[in-house]
Amino acid sequence: MSKPSPVGSVMIKAARDAGRQLARDFGEVENLQVSRKGPADFVSNADHRAEEIIYNALSKARPGYGFLMEERGEVPGTDKSNRFIVDPLDGTLNFLHGQPHYAVSIGLEREGELFCGVVYDVAKNEIFWAEKGRGAWLDQRKLIVAARRKLSESVIATGTPYHGKAEAAHEAFWGELAAMTPVTAGIRRYGSAALDLAYVAAGRFDGFWERGLRAWDIAAGIVLVREAGGFVDEIDGGNVLRTGNIVAGNEPLHPQLIDRLRKSKAFRQAGNAE
Ligand code: IPD
Ligand code: CA
Ligand code: CA
Repeated sequence: MSKPSPVGSVMIKAARDAGRQLARDFGEVENLQVSRKGPADFVSNADHRAEEIIYNALSKARPGYGFLMEERGEVPGTDKSNRFIVDPLDGTLNFLHGQPHYAVSIGLEREGELFCGVVYDVAKNEIFWAEKGRGAWLDQRKLIVAARRKLSESVIATGTPYHGKAEAAHEAFWGELAAMTPVTAGIRRYGSAALDLAYVAAGRFDGFWERGLRAWDIAAGIVLVREAGGFVDEIDGGNVLRTGNIVAGNEPLHPQLIDRLRKSKAFRQAGNAE
């Protein structure tokens, strides 16, 4: 069994501490579900509370490291080679609707490379962690991506655009979905990109794609997938942390997924040109 490095242990503890607060708040959300006002305001405070716990714990343990956090934004550090990338609550919509599928996601970028990732599924009490060279782990179990080679046997996760996103994003998604459904065993949309990637690392999903994510949604999950032997890329060949257009899978499936997604884009562009 591999053990996390000291900084990995600090990140796991911070995720657990934030998770404890989120679990308490989730109980309250379940009560607010039936109230007329609903739990929306309460939930936006839950994100902030969890982020505060993570920020305090990490900045105390590693003073000088920088941060990129969903709520606070960029907090530059004096140590330019280390930066935590944090989503205190990934799967907010699930949380808001009383659905127990949400996570804390903490990544660490070192010398410009993703080095360590922790994704904590609070409701199921599952800690997924990975560190460069130490493998990916679910508690004590070493994670390895699924071995399936055919899309026709594979379950692929994705994220759908929603209200407020540009019309072009919706159209692009429908094109990609149309390219995927006839060739895959099933498509899933669970609502937490961090957990989607953790599930790819654990072999629960065979692949995952989504466009327009943010660095804090995926930083930790990328380390998990890579350390579990999988592959992560930007769909169109750019910088994945910058565009958030991500595709992940095992060695045989990853290129097949990219191929389907790129064909769908080419088809769309040809259609638009007419
Ligand atoms: C969201 C989740 C979701 C993805 C959205 C993200 P949030 O993060 O990761 O799965 O489809 O695009 O914004 O808002 O719950 O932190
Ligand atoms: Ca998120
Ligand atoms: Ca969030």
